[in-house]
Amino acid sequence: MKPQADFGVVGLAVMGANLALNVESRGFACAVFNRTTEKTRDFAGRNLGARLVPGYSIREFTASLKRPRKIILMVKAGAGVDETMAHLLPYLSLGDVLIDGGNSYFRDTDRRVAMMAARGIRYLGCGISGGEEGALKGPSIMPGGDPVAWKHVAPILKAIAAKTEDGPCVTYLGRRSAGHFVKMVHNGIEYAMMQMLAEFYDLMKAGLGMSPEEAQKTFAKWNEGRCGSYLVEISALVLKYRDPDTGKLLVELIQDEAAQKGTGKWTSQSALDLGVPVPSITAAVDARIISGYKKDRVAIARVLPAKSRRLRGAGARQLEGACYAGFLAAYAQGLHLLGKASAEYEYGLNLAEVARIWKGGCIVRSRILDVLRRAYRAEPRLAHPFLAPVFRKALAPVTGSLRTVVSAATAASIPVPVLGATLSYLDGFGRARLPANLIQAQRDHFGAHTYERIDRPGVFHTKWD
Ligand code: 6PG
Repeated sequence: MKPQADFGVVGLAVMGANLALNVESRGFACAVFNRTTEKTRDFAGRNLGARLVPGYSIREFTASLKRPRKIILMVKAGAGVDETMAHLLPYLSLGDVLIDGGNSYFRDTDRRVAMMAARGIRYLGCGISGGEEGALKGPSIMPGGDPVAWKHVAPILKAIAAKTEDGPCVTYLGRRSAGHFVKMVHNGIEYAMMQMLAEFYDLMKAGLGMSPEEAQKTFAKWNEGRCGSYLVEISALVLKYRDPDTGKLLVELIQDEAAQKGTGKWTSQSALDLGVPVPSITAAVDARIISGYKKDRVAIARVLPAKSRRLRGAGARQLEGACYAGFLAAYAQGLHLLGKASAEYEYGLNLAEVARIWKGGCIVRSRILDVLRRAYRAEPRLAHPFLAPVFRKALAPVTGSLRTVVSAATAASIPVPVLGATLSYLDGFGRARLPANLIQAQRDHFGAHTYERIDRPGVFHTKWD
């Protein structure tokens, strides 16, 4: 077969299929392959007339690609990626480009980049965000790995990425697992924002007695302002959708147990490894875990009920301010983590660029990203986002709202794990002196771990008894 395809997609589940259609729609001939031949046949059959080149064996698929081949794997993260790579490898040539477009764990990507480099294959670990629609119309793309591989695929990735007034939502992020690390942190922020919105929905209903329609309208209004973001937008849409069978609001019929695939947990674990606090993200992961203990919650609610009451002293206006503060702090934690990871793993991340490519296509896209972008453009080596004047200016007027809402929610027994953790994070970083002096004294007391003093230099140990 004469090589004719510019790009190849392996894996035709919904994300892969939509990405292939996106590539094709930008004028590239796209080879497609799926392990189950029927799926490839079906996909090609449904898209007759498109410049798709179906491959019914790996040999046929790889033979259809122009050199150097450019192939993206859109298969489930984990062992499936290694298996697919092993199947492909015998048919690849030196200098071919292989991209993993799934949510792979960054340490797996480090291993694969090295393994492929040793075989002369240029590997990119590439986070892709935006769900089904994003894959089809323009996702945010976060590639990292072999820099020459990026040169080969940049025109295609730029063509298929979401576009904002600041350009296509893709850029080369750095070596090895830089792309998958950034995507992981994106998902961690996503977890925090989603849980905050769930908390606001609860506060509106249980705390302010809003009807679902009022809550829906409130989110829709927020979306017009500084909290404007994809997640607020879809929350408003979800809250008004009626189940066609029952005519009831579908969201009210959904079981209150949130699932997870693990990227939020990885963010927290990686942050702990690097010594970066991301309490809003961790609290969001915990909240999903608690939601999963449905049976136990039902039993405990009978014997130790947390009876939610109406909010006192906080209204819709404070909720909106708290949302803005919460979102700002969630991004701040994510960017702080990225800064530390970049130094530790030598990714060389440009955080202003990260904020820019998150502005379109991805799940955490929002107006707030402009604040972050400005902060890191002014000071690329910012130790913490809170130190940037532009960030402080945004945050200072709304921390009071967050405090009011968390206090009122606590008094009303409405759980706000992420909002609460976020407030303590702000208060912790906002204090020049914390009670960690007592921790040091305790450590020295029971383990002779020593301490430093504020009034003289040196390291000290005391016989406390
Ligand atoms: C995206 C999403 C995407 C996916 C998450 C869901 O950026 O498009 O983050 O990657 O929807 O993996 O994660 P959970 O199943 O863990 O919620």
